[in-house]
Amino acid sequence: MKRVVLVTGGGRGIGAAIALQAARDGAAVGINYRSNAATADALAARITAEGGRALAVQADTSQEADVLRLFDTVERQLGPLTGLANNAGITGRPGPIAQLTVEGLNEVLATNVVGYFLCAREAARRLQRGGAIVNVSSRLATLSGAGELVPYSATKAAIDVLTVGLSRELADRGVRVNGVRPGVIATEIHRQRDPDVLRNIERGIPLGRIGTPEEVAECVCWLLSDKASYVTGALLDVGGGR
Ligand SMILES: NC(=O)c1ccc[n+]([C@@H]2O[C@H](COP(=O)([O-])OP(=O)(O)OC[C@H]3O[C@@H](n4cnc5c(N)ncnc54)[C@H](OP(=O)(O)O)[C@@H]3O)[C@@H](O)[C@H]2O)c1
Repeated sequence: MKRVVLVTGGGRGIGAAIALQAARDGAAVGINYRSNAATADALAARITAEGGRALAVQADTSQEADVLRLFDTVERQLGPLTGLANNAGITGRPGPIAQLTVEGLNEVLATNVVGYFLCAREAARRLQRGGAIVNVSSRLATLSGAGELVPYSATKAAIDVLTVGLSRELADRGVRVNGVRPGVIATEIHRQRDPDVLRNIERGIPLGRIGTPEEVAECVCWLLSDKASYVTGALLDVGGGR
């Protein structure tokens, strides 16, 4: 069966690694981005040059109209969806809860919760028989991110509930829904964080290093594939033991 996988936030970081790996696994890939067209277009061109099929589509996943247009465009150009990597996320501005602003809170909720739910809903509507959804969560869903990233961590805990709940709702249609919870992975998402805090965290990782986007993509693509045919409602930690 022809596979069509949509990766939200697929232009950079973990999403780009997922898109590349999914294409190498044989899927046509929809690469969503919000504002950075150049990296998403370059990735689509790279996949095409390797003999795959890819399409970069701009959409803000926190906006319902954008999400509808995104899914419609991918299905019209690449074919019926078979998989979603729900990945587009932001940390929000790091800091203690005492310094939280409503604007800051709403921003992180909009992308990380509303965006994930809207994309999960569209996938649930379109995947009628078989297919897979993988929600990219975070180890912080249980570690809490105290002192700097509690709102972000709370959004990831919400996504873990979405993963388990949706897996139950869609199981009778053979649609599998799983979560991957990365630890610290080398991407630009950390650019606003204190380097000393990151160095301290790295020292506490049992495997002794931060992870790569490719190491997360490997797990996401396995869960998207038929090789994970009996796995649903699972939350896979990819954090080097932390
Ligand atoms: N890196 C880590 O250590 C880590 C750890 C745990 C979990 N995660 C999770 O992994 C996912 C990817 O993180 P990353 O580190 O790869 O981040 P990243 O390098 O900052 O890339 C984020 C991607 O998401 C896109 N994006 C952000 N907000 C969006 C929106 N509202 N609509 C559409 N696209 C949007 C960005 O688009 P533009 O390129 O257009 O800006 C970009 O492609 C996130 O959900 C993150 O929470 C990351």
